[in-house]
Amino acid sequence: MYKILFSLFLSSPLLATELPESRQKELKNLLKHDCGSCHGLTLKGGLGPSLLAADLQNKSNEFLVDTIQNGRKGTAMPPWKPFLNKDETRWLVQLLKNQS
Ligand code: HEC
Repeated sequence: MYKILFSLFLSSPLLATELPESRQKELKNLLKHDCGSCHGLTLKGGLGPSLLAADLQNKSNEFLVDTIQNGRKGTAMPPWKPFLNKDETRWLVQLLKNQS
């Protein structure tokens, strides 16, 4: 019984995107300053489209993670893979989708 609970705990998708507090802070800063330079300081859009929760709801996490990791060729959206691993990117997408 405990074994089952423990393995459920380990495979929880929430846990996969759990990051250390200090890294969460860095990512929030990055979002404001780096992403904000194109998407707007309040993320309502600028050179890049709005990243507000309401505007991302209909887009799949995979699609958004892919956009952030690899950028969009032919647009100003750069790839962030050199700075963000997949878990960090997923965490950012969750943050964006859940912000109010
Ligand atoms: C140099 C400008 C620039 C910066 C910096 C930038 N973006 Fe973008 N981003 C864009 C543009 C332009 C698009 C729209 C691309 C297109 O036309 O498909 C975009 C698209 C996106 C999309 C897809 C939105 C949608 O509705 O499909 C996401 C998500 C996104 N950016 C997240 C980020 C995040 C997170 C960061 C910071 C880590 C970031 N961007 C930094 C310019 C930028």
